[in-house]
Amino acid sequence: MLSSTALFAILSALALSSVQAAPADKDSLDYLANKAGKRYLGTAIQAYQLADPKYTQILESQFNAITPENEMKWEVVEPTEGNFDFSGTDKASTSHEIVAEAKKTGSLVRGHNICWDSQTPSWVTSITDPTRLKQVLKNHIQGVLGRYKNDLEYFDIVNEPLNEDGTYKSNVWYNVLGESYIETALRFAHEVAPEMKLCINDYNIETVNAKSKGMAKVAANLLAKNAPLHCIGFESHFIGGLTPQDIPASMKQFSALGLEVPITELDVRIPVGANDQPANATVAKQRDDGYYTAVSACLGDSLCPGVSIWQFADPTSWIPGVFKGYGSALIYDAEYQPKSSYYATQQALKDGKTTATHFKGIKV
Ligand SMILES: *[C@@H]1O[C@H](CO)[C@@H](O)[C@H](O)[C@H]1NC(C)=O
Repeated sequence: MLSSTALFAILSALALSSVQAAPADKDSLDYLANKAGKRYLGTAIQAYQLADPKYTQILESQFNAITPENEMKWEVVEPTEGNFDFSGTDKASTSHEIVAEAKKTGSLVRGHNICWDSQTPSWVTSITDPTRLKQVLKNHIQGVLGRYKNDLEYFDIVNEPLNEDGTYKSNVWYNVLGESYIETALRFAHEVAPEMKLCINDYNIETVNAKSKGMAKVAANLLAKNAPLHCIGFESHFIGGLTPQDIPASMKQFSALGLEVPITELDVRIPVGANDQPANATVAKQRDDGYYTAVSACLGDSLCPGVSIWQFADPTSWIPGVFKGYGSALIYDAEYQPKSSYYATQQALKDGKTTATHFKGIKV
Protein backbone atom coordinates (compact mmCIF):
# COMPACT_ATOMS: atom_id res chain seq x y z
CA MET A 1 0.00 0.00 0.00
CA LEU A 2 1.46 3.37 -1.00
CA SER A 3 1.41 6.30 1.43
CA SER A 4 -0.53 9.26 0.10
CA THR A 5 2.74 11.22 -0.10
CA ALA A 6 4.34 8.55 -2.27
CA LEU A 7 1.26 8.35 -4.40
CA PHE A 8 1.30 12.12 -4.81
CA ALA A 9 4.95 11.99 -5.87
CA ILE A 10 4.16 9.37 -8.49
CA LEU A 11 1.17 11.25 -9.82
CA SER A 12 3.21 14.47 -9.95
CA ALA A 13 5.95 12.68 -11.87
CA LEU A 14 3.36 11.35 -14.30
CA ALA A 15 1.89 14.82 -14.70
CA LEU A 16 5.35 16.31 -15.32
CA SER A 17 6.25 13.66 -17.87
CA SER A 18 3.05 14.43 -19.73
CA VAL A 19 3.92 18.06 -20.53
CA GLN A 20 6.79 17.24 -22.89
CA ALA A 21 6.60 18.89 -26.29
CA ALA A 22 5.29 16.93 -29.26
CA PRO A 23 8.17 15.04 -30.86
CA ALA A 24 9.84 16.24 -34.04
CA ASP A 25 8.66 14.72 -37.31
CA LYS A 26 11.54 12.31 -37.75
CA ASP A 27 10.57 10.86 -34.40
CA SER A 28 6.92 10.53 -35.36
CA LEU A 29 5.44 7.06 -35.22
CA ASP A 30 4.52 6.90 -38.90
CA TYR A 31 7.99 8.04 -39.98
CA LEU A 32 9.64 5.46 -37.75
CA ALA A 33 7.23 2.69 -38.83
CA ASN A 34 8.03 3.35 -42.44
CA LYS A 35 11.71 3.39 -41.62
CA ALA A 36 11.31 0.12 -39.72
CA GLY A 37 10.69 -1.75 -42.94
CA LYS A 38 7.93 0.11 -44.79
CA ARG A 39 5.26 -0.44 -42.22
CA TYR A 40 2.35 1.67 -41.06
CA LEU A 41 1.39 2.88 -37.63
CA GLY A 42 -2.36 3.35 -37.54
CA THR A 43 -5.24 4.22 -35.29
CA ALA A 44 -8.99 3.74 -35.12
CA ILE A 45 -10.91 7.01 -35.20
CA GLN A 46 -14.47 8.21 -35.32
CA ALA A 47 -15.39 10.80 -37.92
CA TYR A 48 -16.72 13.36 -35.43
CA GLN A 49 -13.24 13.62 -33.92
CA LEU A 50 -11.92 15.20 -37.11
CA ALA A 51 -13.70 18.41 -36.09
CA ASP A 52 -11.16 18.82 -33.25
CA PRO A 53 -8.00 20.48 -34.65
CA LYS A 54 -5.81 19.18 -31.82
CA TYR A 55 -6.94 15.61 -32.45
CA THR A 56 -6.49 15.93 -36.20
CA GLN A 57 -3.04 17.45 -35.78
CA ILE A 58 -1.86 14.34 -33.93
CA LEU A 59 -3.64 12.02 -36.34
CA GLU A 60 -1.93 13.64 -39.31
CA SER A 61 1.52 13.99 -37.76
CA GLN A 62 1.81 10.57 -36.09
CA PHE A 63 -0.24 8.02 -38.03
CA ASN A 64 -0.41 6.80 -41.61
CA ALA A 65 -3.26 4.32 -41.37
CA ILE A 66 -6.85 4.75 -40.23
CA THR A 67 -9.56 2.31 -39.20
CA PRO A 68 -13.12 3.66 -38.92
CA GLU A 69 -14.07 2.57 -35.40
CA ASN A 70 -17.81 2.31 -36.18
CA GLU A 71 -18.53 4.06 -39.46
CA MET A 72 -18.33 1.03 -41.74
CA LYS A 73 -20.17 -1.39 -39.50
CA TRP A 74 -23.33 -2.90 -40.93
CA GLU A 75 -25.78 -1.11 -38.61
CA VAL A 76 -24.31 2.24 -39.66
CA VAL A 77 -23.88 1.67 -43.39
CA GLU A 78 -27.05 -0.32 -44.20
CA PRO A 79 -29.40 0.25 -41.25
CA THR A 80 -32.42 -0.83 -43.28
CA GLU A 81 -32.34 -3.14 -46.26
CA GLY A 82 -30.89 -1.60 -49.39
CA ASN A 83 -30.60 1.89 -47.88
CA PHE A 84 -26.89 2.56 -47.83
CA ASP A 85 -25.81 5.54 -45.82
CA PHE A 86 -22.22 6.74 -46.21
CA SER A 87 -22.67 10.46 -45.86
CA GLY A 88 -26.25 10.69 -44.61
CA THR A 89 -27.85 13.49 -42.68
CA ASP A 90 -25.26 13.50 -39.90
CA LYS A 91 -22.12 13.90 -41.98
CA ALA A 92 -19.89 14.01 -38.93
CA SER A 93 -20.59 10.38 -38.11
CA THR A 94 -19.87 8.85 -41.47
CA SER A 95 -17.23 6.82 -43.24
CA HIS A 96 -17.24 9.41 -46.02
CA GLU A 97 -15.33 11.89 -43.81
CA ILE A 98 -12.77 9.31 -42.78
CA VAL A 99 -11.94 8.18 -46.28
CA ALA A 100 -11.62 11.83 -47.37
CA GLU A 101 -9.22 12.51 -44.49
CA ALA A 102 -7.11 9.46 -45.41
CA LYS A 103 -6.96 10.55 -49.06
CA LYS A 104 -5.94 14.06 -48.07
CA THR A 105 -3.00 12.78 -46.02
CA GLY A 106 -2.05 9.69 -48.04
CA SER A 107 -2.88 7.33 -45.18
CA LEU A 108 -4.14 3.85 -45.86
CA VAL A 109 -7.53 2.70 -44.60
CA ARG A 110 -8.45 -0.61 -43.00
CA GLY A 111 -12.15 -1.24 -43.59
CA HIS A 112 -14.02 -2.75 -40.65
CA ASN A 113 -16.19 -4.95 -40.88
CA ILE A 114 -18.79 -7.11 -42.72
CA CYS A 115 -19.72 -10.38 -40.90
CA TRP A 116 -19.87 -10.01 -37.12
CA ASP A 117 -22.12 -11.09 -34.27
CA SER A 118 -22.42 -7.50 -33.01
CA GLN A 119 -23.56 -4.15 -34.43
CA THR A 120 -25.49 -5.96 -37.16
CA PRO A 121 -29.11 -4.83 -37.55
CA SER A 122 -31.94 -7.17 -36.60
CA TRP A 123 -33.33 -7.16 -40.14
CA VAL A 124 -30.17 -9.17 -40.96
CA THR A 125 -29.80 -11.28 -37.82
CA SER A 126 -33.44 -12.42 -38.05
CA ILE A 127 -32.99 -13.98 -41.50
CA THR A 128 -33.26 -17.79 -41.45
CA ASP A 129 -33.32 -18.64 -45.17
CA PRO A 130 -29.80 -19.37 -46.51
CA THR A 131 -30.52 -18.17 -50.05
CA ARG A 132 -31.87 -14.89 -48.81
CA LEU A 133 -29.02 -14.39 -46.32
CA LYS A 134 -26.45 -14.95 -49.07
CA GLN A 135 -28.21 -12.44 -51.30
CA VAL A 136 -28.30 -9.88 -48.48
CA LEU A 137 -24.59 -10.48 -47.82
CA LYS A 138 -23.76 -10.06 -51.49
CA ASN A 139 -25.76 -6.82 -51.75
CA HIS A 140 -24.08 -5.41 -48.66
CA ILE A 141 -20.59 -6.26 -49.86
CA GLN A 142 -21.33 -4.79 -53.28
CA GLY A 143 -22.62 -1.64 -51.60
CA VAL A 144 -19.67 -1.12 -49.27
CA LEU A 145 -16.69 -2.55 -51.16
CA GLY A 146 -18.10 -1.35 -54.47
CA ARG A 147 -18.02 2.18 -53.17
CA TYR A 148 -14.60 1.95 -51.55
CA LYS A 149 -12.74 -0.55 -53.72
CA ASN A 150 -10.15 2.04 -54.79
CA ASP A 151 -9.83 3.70 -51.39
CA LEU A 152 -9.20 0.90 -48.92
CA GLU A 153 -6.15 -1.35 -48.74
CA TYR A 154 -7.54 -3.85 -46.23
CA PHE A 155 -10.96 -4.96 -45.07
CA ASP A 156 -11.87 -7.08 -42.05
CA ILE A 157 -14.45 -9.13 -43.92
CA VAL A 158 -15.06 -11.52 -41.02
CA ASN A 159 -14.77 -10.26 -37.47
CA GLU A 160 -14.36 -12.44 -34.38
CA PRO A 161 -15.64 -15.73 -35.84
CA LEU A 162 -14.25 -18.14 -33.23
CA ASN A 163 -14.92 -19.20 -29.67
CA GLU A 164 -12.09 -19.46 -27.16
CA ASP A 165 -11.83 -23.22 -27.81
CA GLY A 166 -11.28 -22.63 -31.52
CA THR A 167 -14.75 -23.67 -32.68
CA TYR A 168 -17.06 -21.45 -34.73
CA LYS A 169 -18.95 -18.83 -32.76
CA SER A 170 -22.71 -18.74 -33.00
CA ASN A 171 -23.88 -15.86 -35.20
CA VAL A 172 -26.44 -15.49 -37.96
CA TRP A 173 -23.83 -16.32 -40.60
CA TYR A 174 -22.66 -19.57 -39.04
CA ASN A 175 -26.10 -20.58 -37.82
CA VAL A 176 -27.75 -20.17 -41.23
CA LEU A 177 -24.92 -20.80 -43.71
CA GLY A 178 -22.57 -23.04 -41.76
CA GLU A 179 -18.79 -22.65 -41.74
CA SER A 180 -18.72 -21.94 -45.48
CA TYR A 181 -19.98 -18.41 -44.76
CA ILE A 182 -16.40 -17.19 -44.44
CA GLU A 183 -15.45 -18.49 -47.86
CA THR A 184 -18.67 -17.12 -49.34
CA ALA A 185 -18.08 -13.64 -47.91
CA LEU A 186 -14.43 -13.59 -49.02
CA ARG A 187 -15.40 -14.60 -52.57
CA PHE A 188 -18.13 -11.97 -52.81
CA ALA A 189 -15.65 -9.35 -51.59
CA HIS A 190 -12.90 -10.41 -53.95
CA GLU A 191 -15.28 -10.26 -56.92
CA VAL A 192 -16.11 -6.64 -56.11
CA ALA A 193 -12.65 -5.49 -54.97
CA PRO A 194 -9.97 -7.76 -56.48
CA GLU A 195 -7.10 -5.53 -55.29
CA MET A 196 -8.22 -5.28 -51.68
CA LYS A 197 -6.57 -7.42 -49.00
CA LEU A 198 -9.25 -9.37 -47.18
CA CYS A 199 -8.82 -10.29 -43.53
CA ILE A 200 -10.30 -12.32 -40.72
CA ASN A 201 -9.87 -10.36 -37.49
CA ASP A 202 -10.04 -11.77 -33.96
CA TYR A 203 -8.90 -11.39 -30.33
CA ASN A 204 -7.07 -13.83 -28.06
CA ILE A 205 -5.23 -15.32 -31.02
CA GLU A 206 -2.02 -13.43 -30.16
CA THR A 207 -0.67 -16.40 -28.27
CA VAL A 208 -0.40 -20.06 -29.30
CA ASN A 209 -3.59 -21.50 -27.80
CA ALA A 210 -6.73 -23.42 -28.79
CA LYS A 211 -8.24 -20.36 -30.43
CA SER A 212 -5.24 -19.39 -32.57
CA LYS A 213 -4.70 -23.04 -33.51
CA GLY A 214 -8.36 -23.21 -34.54
CA MET A 215 -7.89 -20.05 -36.59
CA ALA A 216 -4.82 -21.52 -38.27
CA LYS A 217 -6.93 -24.53 -39.32
CA VAL A 218 -9.69 -22.27 -40.65
CA ALA A 219 -7.10 -20.27 -42.59
CA ALA A 220 -5.36 -23.34 -44.01
CA ASN A 221 -8.70 -24.82 -45.13
CA LEU A 222 -9.66 -21.58 -46.85
CA LEU A 223 -6.32 -21.35 -48.63
CA ALA A 224 -6.61 -25.00 -49.71
CA LYS A 225 -9.86 -23.99 -51.45
CA ASN A 226 -8.11 -21.00 -53.05
CA ALA A 227 -10.35 -18.63 -51.14
CA PRO A 228 -9.18 -15.00 -51.36
CA LEU A 229 -7.90 -14.67 -47.80
CA HIS A 230 -4.89 -12.37 -47.37
CA CYS A 231 -4.57 -11.55 -43.70
CA ILE A 232 -5.37 -12.52 -40.14
CA GLY A 233 -5.81 -9.48 -37.89
CA PHE A 234 -4.40 -9.77 -34.37
CA GLU A 235 -6.65 -7.44 -32.37
CA SER A 236 -4.27 -7.31 -29.39
CA HIS A 237 -6.40 -5.90 -26.58
CA PHE A 238 -3.88 -6.64 -23.87
CA ILE A 239 -3.69 -6.33 -20.09
CA GLY A 240 -0.57 -4.81 -18.54
CA GLY A 241 1.68 -7.58 -17.21
CA LEU A 242 -0.16 -10.21 -19.25
CA THR A 243 0.90 -9.31 -22.77
CA PRO A 244 1.75 -12.63 -24.43
CA GLN A 245 5.45 -13.22 -24.89
CA ASP A 246 4.88 -15.62 -27.81
CA ILE A 247 3.19 -13.25 -30.27
CA PRO A 248 5.92 -14.04 -32.84
CA ALA A 249 5.18 -17.77 -32.57
CA SER A 250 1.47 -17.17 -32.98
CA MET A 251 2.06 -14.89 -35.98
CA LYS A 252 4.19 -17.62 -37.53
CA GLN A 253 1.16 -19.95 -37.57
CA PHE A 254 -0.29 -17.66 -40.24
CA SER A 255 2.68 -15.98 -41.89
CA ALA A 256 4.07 -19.47 -42.62
CA LEU A 257 0.95 -19.87 -44.80
CA GLY A 258 1.80 -16.63 -46.61
CA LEU A 259 -0.84 -14.60 -44.80
CA GLU A 260 -0.22 -11.10 -43.50
CA VAL A 261 -0.53 -10.65 -39.75
CA PRO A 262 -1.35 -7.01 -38.96
CA ILE A 263 -1.89 -5.91 -35.36
CA THR A 264 -5.28 -4.27 -35.69
CA GLU A 265 -6.69 -2.95 -32.40
CA LEU A 266 -3.82 -2.60 -29.93
CA ASP A 267 -4.38 -1.25 -26.44
CA VAL A 268 -2.92 -2.28 -23.07
CA ARG A 269 -5.23 -1.71 -20.13
CA ILE A 270 -4.10 -1.36 -16.54
CA PRO A 271 -5.76 -0.76 -13.16
CA VAL A 272 -6.42 2.96 -12.69
CA GLY A 273 -7.27 5.28 -9.85
CA ALA A 274 -8.85 8.70 -10.05
CA ASN A 275 -8.88 10.52 -13.40
CA ASP A 276 -7.89 7.41 -15.34
CA GLN A 277 -4.35 7.61 -13.89
CA PRO A 278 -2.33 4.39 -13.54
CA ALA A 279 -2.80 2.80 -10.10
CA ASN A 280 0.97 2.97 -9.65
CA ALA A 281 4.25 3.09 -11.52
CA THR A 282 4.49 -0.70 -11.74
CA VAL A 283 1.31 -1.10 -13.77
CA ALA A 284 2.23 1.89 -15.95
CA LYS A 285 5.54 0.18 -16.78
CA GLN A 286 3.69 -3.08 -17.55
CA ARG A 287 1.50 -1.20 -20.00
CA ASP A 288 4.54 0.37 -21.67
CA ASP A 289 6.25 -3.03 -21.90
CA GLY A 290 3.08 -4.36 -23.53
CA TYR A 291 3.34 -1.74 -26.27
CA TYR A 292 7.03 -2.49 -26.74
CA THR A 293 6.37 -6.24 -26.95
CA ALA A 294 3.49 -5.93 -29.42
CA VAL A 295 5.22 -3.48 -31.75
CA SER A 296 8.45 -5.49 -31.64
CA ALA A 297 6.52 -8.65 -32.54
CA CYS A 298 5.14 -6.96 -35.64
CA LEU A 299 8.58 -5.76 -36.62
CA GLY A 300 9.90 -9.27 -36.19
CA ASP A 301 7.63 -10.79 -38.85
CA SER A 302 8.11 -9.72 -42.45
CA LEU A 303 4.40 -10.37 -43.06
CA CYS A 304 3.24 -7.95 -40.39
CA PRO A 305 2.48 -4.79 -42.40
CA GLY A 306 1.82 -2.54 -39.42
CA VAL A 307 0.25 -1.85 -36.07
CA SER A 308 -3.06 -0.08 -35.47
CA ILE A 309 -4.02 1.24 -32.05
CA TRP A 310 -7.72 1.34 -31.08
CA GLN A 311 -7.98 5.14 -30.72
CA PHE A 312 -4.87 6.98 -29.49
CA ALA A 313 -5.97 9.20 -26.55
CA ASP A 314 -7.41 7.79 -23.32
CA PRO A 315 -10.67 9.78 -23.12
CA THR A 316 -12.03 8.08 -26.26
CA SER A 317 -10.82 4.56 -25.43
CA TRP A 318 -13.53 1.89 -25.16
CA ILE A 319 -11.76 0.34 -22.15
CA PRO A 320 -13.10 2.23 -19.10
CA GLY A 321 -16.69 1.71 -20.26
CA VAL A 322 -16.26 -2.04 -20.64
CA PHE A 323 -13.61 -3.08 -18.08
CA LYS A 324 -14.41 -1.45 -14.77
CA GLY A 325 -11.37 -0.18 -12.87
CA TYR A 326 -9.15 -0.40 -15.97
CA GLY A 327 -7.98 2.35 -18.29
CA SER A 328 -4.97 4.42 -19.31
CA ALA A 329 -4.70 1.91 -22.16
CA LEU A 330 -3.54 4.23 -24.94
CA ILE A 331 -0.54 6.41 -25.78
CA TYR A 332 -1.86 9.97 -25.34
CA ASP A 333 -3.49 11.48 -22.26
CA ALA A 334 -6.59 13.63 -21.93
CA GLU A 335 -4.59 16.74 -22.83
CA TYR A 336 -3.32 15.03 -25.99
CA GLN A 337 0.18 14.77 -24.55
CA PRO A 338 2.24 11.67 -25.37
CA LYS A 339 2.54 9.25 -22.42
CA SER A 340 5.34 6.87 -21.54
CA SER A 341 3.50 4.26 -23.64
CA TYR A 342 4.01 6.55 -26.64
CA TYR A 343 7.75 6.55 -26.01
CA ALA A 344 7.79 2.76 -25.57
CA THR A 345 6.10 2.46 -28.98
CA GLN A 346 8.62 4.85 -30.47
CA GLN A 347 11.52 2.93 -28.95
CA ALA A 348 10.22 -0.39 -30.32
CA LEU A 349 10.03 1.16 -33.79
CA LYS A 350 13.57 2.48 -33.46
CA ASP A 351 14.85 -0.92 -32.34
CA GLY A 352 13.11 -2.90 -35.11
CA LYS A 353 15.29 -4.30 -37.85
CA THR A 354 13.32 -6.35 -40.38
CA THR A 355 11.51 -5.29 -43.52
CA ALA A 356 7.88 -5.98 -44.33
CA THR A 357 7.58 -7.65 -47.69
CA HIS A 358 3.97 -7.23 -48.79
CA PHE A 359 3.39 -3.61 -48.15
CA LYS A 360 2.68 -1.02 -50.86
CA GLY A 361 4.19 1.99 -49.14
CA ILE A 362 2.54 5.03 -47.68
CA LYS A 363 3.08 8.64 -46.70
CA VAL A 364 5.64 9.44 -44.02
C1 LIG B 1 0.09 -1.52 -8.13
O1 LIG B 1 -1.29 -1.63 -8.37
C2 LIG B 1 -1.74 -2.95 -8.58
C3 LIG B 1 -3.20 -2.88 -8.99
O2 LIG B 1 -3.95 -2.16 -8.09
C4 LIG B 1 -1.50 -3.79 -7.35
O3 LIG B 1 -1.93 -5.11 -7.55
C5 LIG B 1 -0.02 -3.77 -7.02
O4 LIG B 1 0.20 -4.45 -5.80
C6 LIG B 1 0.48 -2.34 -6.89
N1 LIG B 1 1.92 -2.36 -6.78
C7 LIG B 1 2.60 -1.54 -5.98
C8 LIG B 1 4.09 -1.69 -6.01
O5 LIG B 1 2.04 -0.70 -5.30
